[in-house]
Amino acid sequence: MSLIENTVSLREIKSGGKLVGSVKVPGDKSISHRSLLFGAIAEGETTIEGLLPAEDPISTSKCLNAMGVKIEFLNDGKIVKVHGVGLDGLKEPNDVLNCGNSGTTMRLILGLLVGKQGRHFVLTGDESLNNRPMKRVGHPLKMMGAKVNGRSNGDFAPLSVIGSQLHGAVIGTPVASAQIKSAILLAALTAEGSTTVIEPANSRDHTERMLKAFGANIEITGELGRHITLRPGPKLRATQIVVPGDISSAAFWLIAGSIIPGSDITIENIGLNPTRTGILDVLKQMEANIELFNKREIAGEPVGDIRVVSSKQLKPFCLDNEIMPRLVDEVPILTVAACFCNGTSQIKGASELRVKETDRLAVMARQLGKMRADIEEHSDGLTIYGGKGLVGADMDSESDHRVAMSLAVASLMAKGDSTMARSNSASVSYPEFWTDLERLLK
Ligand code: S3P
Repeated sequence: MSLIENTVSLREIKSGGKLVGSVKVPGDKSISHRSLLFGAIAEGETTIEGLLPAEDPISTSKCLNAMGVKIEFLNDGKIVKVHGVGLDGLKEPNDVLNCGNSGTTMRLILGLLVGKQGRHFVLTGDESLNNRPMKRVGHPLKMMGAKVNGRSNGDFAPLSVIGSQLHGAVIGTPVASAQIKSAILLAALTAEGSTTVIEPANSRDHTERMLKAFGANIEITGELGRHITLRPGPKLRATQIVVPGDISSAAFWLIAGSIIPGSDITIENIGLNPTRTGILDVLKQMEANIELFNKREIAGEPVGDIRVVSSKQLKPFCLDNEIMPRLVDEVPILTVAACFCNGTSQIKGASELRVKETDRLAVMARQLGKMRADIEEHSDGLTIYGGKGLVGADMDSESDHRVAMSLAVASLMAKGDSTMARSNSASVSYPEFWTDLERLLK
């Protein structure tokens, strides 16, 4: 394969080849954001090993810098030191805070800032982020007394925040979203009285785990662990964090290794937090050849290595709203996988995909449609008639990192070569993706 990049990051992707070798995926994006944010509001110096060096966490880091937090990238970024300013130490910035393409940055920082009394903040982002719904965070924060405004009656950024004294509340969230839950818990740290978040399904729990490690008083109750209570009081204490590899980045190799004949890939250091491993359940449904080994726990998060060997036949699968929060970011690559399963796969309960960096249901149906995939789009999902093969096409990532990487895997399996416009969007979460792909390709 030859990958030729030009100024508009148009890449040529030759079809064929197999993927063989080992790959270490970059640090988990969700954990990277949280380690910077929680380190910033702790007392003392937090050390982070393995922070994801990608555009999204860099947006978080720059916003924190603008509010007076010193963050040092040492040893080529392998070690990051965050000099915490304490729960009330964030300064009013001189300019708007730019969250770039990152929903996690904007939503979590919003939760962090609403309780910073006497200070004014404006949050903005790129075109995609400024068109993603923010009322889902602003509304529950207002139930705690927050003062947040934005375009379209508060739903879209730029958002303005006037920090105020918050009060605790019991808040049921309508969607299972770790970003909403985390924003509420961050606001709760400086509220008067305790706050409980009740989720309709368990979203990823990195915030709960990490806030505990920083010394917050957080309790998880309810039969299914969906009531999360935070009692304000203790100061956060700086700690040491080791960021595991991102299972959402590993997902591209797990699927590529399963569908591309002759492939044999070992993916090292994958975070295996049970709120994130839905993709492994689906690979089992598909009867893919995966072997999990070297399981261990690092800094409060389960981690392991996975070997994937290509399968001759893969079974179709069905996803519903029950499993969705555990694999929400993996739907684009699972759509590609479904094209190579022997039969019809169903993706349901996935309407959240329509409000990600792009409308991922529409974009995947449109781009894979160019490769002549047989896909029907529904309001909350996709039906994919697999086993029919794909043909090379001129595709476009539409500036969505997960779409870029998913389409890259699809084009290796297509009959005939492809091109991809805006392929550089992969760097939002996986800057070395194209280099790793070239290295594994035999
Ligand atoms: C994230 C939560 C998920 C996920 C996003 C990262 C997080 O979003 O899609 O990539 O770090 O909390 P939602 O909270 O909107 O489900």
